[in-house]
Amino acid sequence: MSSTSHTYHQRISVDYNYPVEFARDILNPDNPLLANTLDRLKEGRRHRVQAFVDSGVVKAWPDIADRLRAYAAAYPEIIDLVHDPETVQGGERAKNSRRAAERVMESIADHHLCRQSFVLAIGGGSALDIIGLAATLVHRGLRQIRIPTTVLAQNDSGVGVKNGIDAYGVKNFAGTFAPPFAVLIDPAFLTTLEDRYWIGGLGEAFKVALIKDAAFFDYLCRHAEALRQRDAEVIEEVVRRSAILHLEHIREGGDPFEFGASRPLDFGHWSAHRLEVMSGYELSHGCAVAIGVALDAFYAQATGLISSGEFESIVRAMKAAGLAIWSTLLERCEPDGDLTVLRGLADFREHLGGELHVTLPGPIGRGVEINEMDPEIIIQGIQALKELA
Ligand SMILES: NC(=O)c1ccc[n+]([C@@H]2O[C@H](COP(=O)([O-])OP(=O)(O)OC[C@H]3O[C@@H](n4cnc5c(N)ncnc54)[C@H](O)[C@@H]3O)[C@@H](O)[C@H]2O)c1
Ligand SMILES: [Zn+2]
Repeated sequence: MSSTSHTYHQRISVDYNYPVEFARDILNPDNPLLANTLDRLKEGRRHRVQAFVDSGVVKAWPDIADRLRAYAAAYPEIIDLVHDPETVQGGERAKNSRRAAERVMESIADHHLCRQSFVLAIGGGSALDIIGLAATLVHRGLRQIRIPTTVLAQNDSGVGVKNGIDAYGVKNFAGTFAPPFAVLIDPAFLTTLEDRYWIGGLGEAFKVALIKDAAFFDYLCRHAEALRQRDAEVIEEVVRRSAILHLEHIREGGDPFEFGASRPLDFGHWSAHRLEVMSGYELSHGCAVAIGVALDAFYAQATGLISSGEFESIVRAMKAAGLAIWSTLLERCEPDGDLTVLRGLADFREHLGGELHVTLPGPIGRGVEINEMDPEIIIQGIQALKELA
């Protein structure tokens, strides 16, 4: 018997590689790093570059456009700055609408960038997500070089492979996976950050340390007070170690584009995302993650994954670093009396396709995945954090 059915199994693998440079003075014309990065494929031509800068960065660094122009002028054989740098609205609320991303696309269209042209994105995690999404949609993906300017963007979001904007009341509802061409990290940008973003960015550092690197957690504990004082040397070390842990996970975790449901780097995020939305985005992502991490650390202790001494050391270090571990939002209830934050768990489960995958530390420095969470223990955790806060 012959069959008309035939399967041709297609298999494609695409090799992504990109440098993440930890450097200083990256917009100083004497520093060739950015020019060399643009030219790293040695294609023997000038590169068309369009720069987009977070409005918060423009405010704090009013000469940034001049600096970019002066830098391009110093490398005329490599850089063709197609237009004056453009400002993109920064901050989480700019991610709430598609307008900012559309503006970036419109501007790219006006300047006729091709797939080999560069989008240079300078800003915090929100602006990078917006610019990155636009850059990845135009012609199905332009080259993007990121210069992250907040603690969170430098130690987590800016070095990774995702972007996105919020839609229909859901965070990061519309986004893509798109590795950058390169990332350049300059600690100077952190000096002008508001405290809540400087400290808030530490939430992701605690997150990744607790599930990946006990020695790094120990470093955070020993330097918590210095972090609160915005010690420049300590934050550089924290940014570098945290960024590398995120990079290692993306490379070695076996699922860089998150096809599966397991999301270790989302430890603490099921409640964090919900708290951000509940606060009308008053609560920054990093600060929300810190609360989420504290809540899930309680859960890890209550279920015997970490000891009570370990839980206490987590809370002590986060508080010493200036991170809040509790918010009144945790006690907000729905009309039926259920805690609103618990809806975050249902949302997370739905996002993962029906089965819950939550990573907790167990012991500190190693992630353990659980597939069920008992709401009663979460409620106990909220009470415990209230007392500890
Ligand atoms: N794509 C990812 O993989 C990923 C990962 C983690 C977080 N995120 C996203 O990142 C966002 C949070 O990013 P964030 O914490 O960097 O905050 P943010 O980008 O919202 O920036 C916070 C504020 O600081 C301003 N700012 C930025 N750089 C500055 C500087 N150097 N000096 C002064 N002001 C400056 C911004 O204009 C903004 O007002 C969230 O939307 C979160 O979902 C994305
Ligand atoms: Zn996060």
